[in-house]
Amino acid sequence: MITEEIKEEKKDTLILAIETSCDETAAAVVKNGREVLSNIIYSQIALHTVFGGVVPEIASRKHIEKINPVIEAALSEAGVTLQDIDAVAVTYGPGLVGALLVGVAEAKAIAWAAGKPLVGVHHIEGHISANYIEHKDLEPPFLCLVASGGHSHLVLVEDYGQYQIIGRTRDDAAGEAFDKVARAIGLGYPGGPKVDRVAREGDPNAIPFPRAKIEGAPDDFSFSGLKSAVLNYLNQCKMKEVPVNTADVAASFQQAVIDVLTDHTISAARRIGISKIAIAGGVAANSSLRTQMQELARKNNMTFYHPSPVYCTDNAAMIGVAGYYEYIKGVRDSWDLNAVPNLKIGQR
Ligand code: KG4
Ligand code: ZN
Repeated sequence: MITEEIKEEKKDTLILAIETSCDETAAAVVKNGREVLSNIIYSQIALHTVFGGVVPEIASRKHIEKINPVIEAALSEAGVTLQDIDAVAVTYGPGLVGALLVGVAEAKAIAWAAGKPLVGVHHIEGHISANYIEHKDLEPPFLCLVASGGHSHLVLVEDYGQYQIIGRTRDDAAGEAFDKVARAIGLGYPGGPKVDRVAREGDPNAIPFPRAKIEGAPDDFSFSGLKSAVLNYLNQCKMKEVPVNTADVAASFQQAVIDVLTDHTISAARRIGISKIAIAGGVAANSSLRTQMQELARKNNMTFYHPSPVYCTDNAAMIGVAGYYEYIKGVRDSWDLNAVPNLKIGQR
């Protein structure tokens, strides 16, 4: 007699994620919160380069034009249809309001038409969650440095979807400083990757740029003084008719940012007593930051986690991961979900 073993198969959870908070039109399909089945990114960088930065109006219009083909490509590359999807996750803040609205309206339309639940996701929670994609062993609690074009935060990830902000920037974000300095030394937009490349040819100790500390708030950041110091240095060179060594300026500026970011992260982790540290956001793609953080973590007996560069800069896979953990907790948004340009972490 043949006995058939009937096993109840565990159903996979598939999230279709949409991200349009700035200048990337992105969609992804993520399985069980950790496996990326597709990750489509239409970058608008070339379009905004002529203007030296993101033009919100142009970004919104391009999102409208690209969102449908990008979603279709994400579904097709994952080999699934809308009916296979369990929920639609979308970035609803923070970001450019017009850009966010395109993604939010699209997600609501798709979720309603396909009869699927809708889950709004915080952009920064997405950045942090990018770490779960390639580090299957990573689980909260851990301390995450989030450094992007709009944000510089030290976040204690207490549990999935549960965050405590330890430190934040008082003025410019780290990525914003990269972009402004890049423009000043003639590298253009987007600044971060260009400074990263040029800095490899320069001496990080050539110019002693300041490392800002905030009295009474050791975990907070400030980058506007550093940006001004670079601009002053360039002006002085011009006045004295001394040639500027662009690679040295890039390397010395970058080192000043890295010293502050690594020092704050390691000091906070030691004080809190946490041995797992992670980085996230566009600046986390910086090659020197990654190497130096790795080395410092090793010296301090800490484990260092970092996403691949493609998951550091804006993408929808990270939104799918954060959306999954919200979805399994039972978070559902209604059809009145709106874009919230200044959404706070943990706010709902
Ligand atoms: O996370 P992201 O793609 O968008 C925001 O949420 O802001 O971050 C973009 C920022 C830009 O300021 C860009 O110059 C910076 O990340 N960035 C970098 C690198 N790649 C991107 N900064 C330093 N080094 C890099 N390799
Ligand atoms: Zn971002």
